[in-house]
Amino acid sequence: MSFVTVQNLFQSYGTRPILERINLTVEEGEFVSIVGASGCGKSTFLRLLLAQEQPSRGAISIDGAPPAQEPDRDRGVVFQRYSVFPHMTVRDNIIAATALNRPFGALWGAARLKARAEALEVLDRIGLAHVAGQYPASLSGGMQQRLAIAQALAAKPKILLLDEPFGALDPGTRLTMHDFLCELRDETNMTIFMVTHDLPEGFKLGDRVLVFDKPRWDPTDPEAYGATITYDFDARDGGIPYQRLVEETHVPLTL
Ligand SMILES: Nc1ncnc2c1ncn2[C@@H]1O[C@H](COP(=O)(O)OP(=O)(O)OP(=O)(O)O)[C@@H](O)[C@H]1O
Ligand SMILES: [Mg+2]
Repeated sequence: MSFVTVQNLFQSYGTRPILERINLTVEEGEFVSIVGASGCGKSTFLRLLLAQEQPSRGAISIDGAPPAQEPDRDRGVVFQRYSVFPHMTVRDNIIAATALNRPFGALWGAARLKARAEALEVLDRIGLAHVAGQYPASLSGGMQQRLAIAQALAAKPKILLLDEPFGALDPGTRLTMHDFLCELRDETNMTIFMVTHDLPEGFKLGDRVLVFDKPRWDPTDPEAYGATITYDFDARDGGIPYQRLVEETHVPLTL
């Protein structure tokens, strides 16, 4: 059985359909990039994987069970906007994430010292060791986002959900973060879902690139139908071959 299975998933807000007929299977360790027009429901899909909201129809299974509603260490998240703890230093932000991975939460004595050393190692890797004692507010946006990514990865989650994680970074930092993510992925065999607006980035990092789009389109009522996965590209070899999953149908104009 696949690690993540999505079966005939629909999501509507009120009467407005956002997602329709989403079917997907993802193996453990796969890196899935998701692209699609703004507002087509990509973040909604990630929230469904996180069980932050429940689908109107259909089912999701992760490792053989529906996604847990409580936050757990199996799923790490990085949203587009910075999500670090503002009242903790940079180093303590990483230590707090590591502590999430332990049965009793807080860390004491030798375990705390070890976590401190590990946190410094992570910070060194992403070029933030020199600001370990500072608070997030004193960092640039890009540095805060690097911290958020490092924090999500420090807990070594089984699934990592990334919602446009590199959007705010300059091109050089972006490449450093790509390398960092690839290394950690090789070390941990995490399953990753990453939403991006940057197609080359999606193909570079992903094993697959899913396109979310509306296959049915009514020009008189653009919000009448939801989006689904219209393409599932194999990106492992640079990715030209693809599978068109859904035929496009234009709803005829009725005058
Ligand atoms: N809780 C909600 N209640 C009502 N409508 C919502 C809610 N959350 C999202 N929407 C609407 O659902 C649609 C899909 O939103 P979503 O944030 O998933 O899009 P997206 O693909 O992530 O877009 P972007 O690329 O701009 O981030 C949008 O039109 C949004 O306004
Ligand atoms: Mg979004």
